[in-house]
Amino acid sequence: MDQNKTTSFIPALGYDFLTAYYDMAIKLTMPEKKFRRILVESINPQDDESILEFGFGTGQNLILVKNQNRNIKLTGLDIDPKVKDIANYKLAKNNLTVPLDLYSGNIFPYPDNHFDKIYSCLVFHQLDADTKTNCLKEIYRVLKPGGELIIADWGKADNKIMRLTFGIVQMLDGFKSTDDNVKGKMPEYIAKGGFENVQIIQSINTAIGTFSYFKARKKLSKL
Ligand SMILES: C[S@@+](CC[C@H](N)C(=O)[O-])C[C@H]1O[C@@H](n2cnc3c(N)ncnc32)[C@H](O)[C@@H]1O
Repeated sequence: MDQNKTTSFIPALGYDFLTAYYDMAIKLTMPEKKFRRILVESINPQDDESILEFGFGTGQNLILVKNQNRNIKLTGLDIDPKVKDIANYKLAKNNLTVPLDLYSGNIFPYPDNHFDKIYSCLVFHQLDADTKTNCLKEIYRVLKPGGELIIADWGKADNKIMRLTFGIVQMLDGFKSTDDNVKGKMPEYIAKGGFENVQIIQSINTAIGTFSYFKARKKLSKL
């Protein structure tokens, strides 16, 4: 496989021409302040921690996390050059500097055991089974032993209404990548990636489905 060739991916709002409207769509369809606040609280960024956002999109979380603690080393990774331009523009407008990296969808451009924490929000439901598995493998590799993974994404539908309304997300992002999320399989994927202490720390019901927060740790290395 050519490691430099960008693998196919689902853009932020399902279709490339909709990316410019992503922020507005999130504002209109989700309890944005609440779900991003819970994410930042779950990350709980501490001084000097090295933290990666996997799939930074338009940079909304980068701004909130960096504003929560300016003394962290925050980095963003995404696959789509279009969102990098939007995120860079928004970071500059907020007088923030965060290095943003792009990759081809295969190997993360970081050495082993590099980050204290890695978080990701609204990304995994856009990844098919093999890509979910590969990305979790890469996250595990670049996390330090004992490092924390925090994923905020669509989880098991809490009731029939949540299952029904999640159809809106599935129509935009496709059924193939979203199905395992709504069936509650994220913890299985995370555990298969080698992580321990896999937990669903919180779930909230939104107008378009049940949104869950998953936490896990990379095992400490044996002496
Ligand atoms: C729905 S957006 C979420 C953006 C942001 N995290 C948020 O909370 O608003 C999903 C992002 O994941 C990125 N993405 C999709 N597939 C990816 C992959 N294989 N590796 C890295 N990022 C990917 C997309 O480019 C997009 O920016």
